[in-house]
Amino acid sequence: MMITTNKKFVFSKENLKEVENILSKYPEGRKKSAVLPLLHLAQRQNDGWVSKEIVDHVAEIIDVAPIRVYEVVTFYTMFNLKPIGKFHIQVCGTTPCMLRGSENLLKLCKEKLGIDLHETTKDMMFTVSEVECLGGCANAPVIQINDDYFEDLTVKNFEKILDDLKAGKKVTIGSQTGRNSSEPATAKKK
Ligand code: FES
Repeated sequence: MMITTNKKFVFSKENLKEVENILSKYPEGRKKSAVLPLLHLAQRQNDGWVSKEIVDHVAEIIDVAPIRVYEVVTFYTMFNLKPIGKFHIQVCGTTPCMLRGSENLLKLCKEKLGIDLHETTKDMMFTVSEVECLGGCANAPVIQINDDYFEDLTVKNFEKILDDLKAGKKVTIGSQTGRNSSEPATAKKK
């Protein structure tokens, strides 16, 4: 798996404090166990993706060979190894979501945004991925966009979300049918 190179990476002043905080949770001689939270923090700082320079920098901090960090970033699909769009759309394709129409949501993404899986629109607004169960099956179909879940989706309400995101409008996260948490869809509103 290829990893993209970028400019030299260093943690921001603010994140350096968080690096210290993360490292302090691990005993001496066990700092390499901090690899996941450090990569996660670096990815956040770097607009959602991990570069070769980040791998090298994290390896230096936890004092391991870069290959040890490379093994981790290429194993977990939560790490993006090339620049991604402002909105990372992760469509759940596992059985409950599939039975509730996730394939149509994926189709809409591809048609409306003009990109295939793991591609990014030219304006760097959207990247589309298919992921395994997001753990919100009771509200299937579910899509994660950046840190937020969008649930009880239909082609219609999802298309509106895409339009609103593109227009810079605020979108409603969670259930798109207004139900509270995972209460039965027929439950009466209080
Ligand atoms: S199958 Fe989609 S959230 Fe579980």
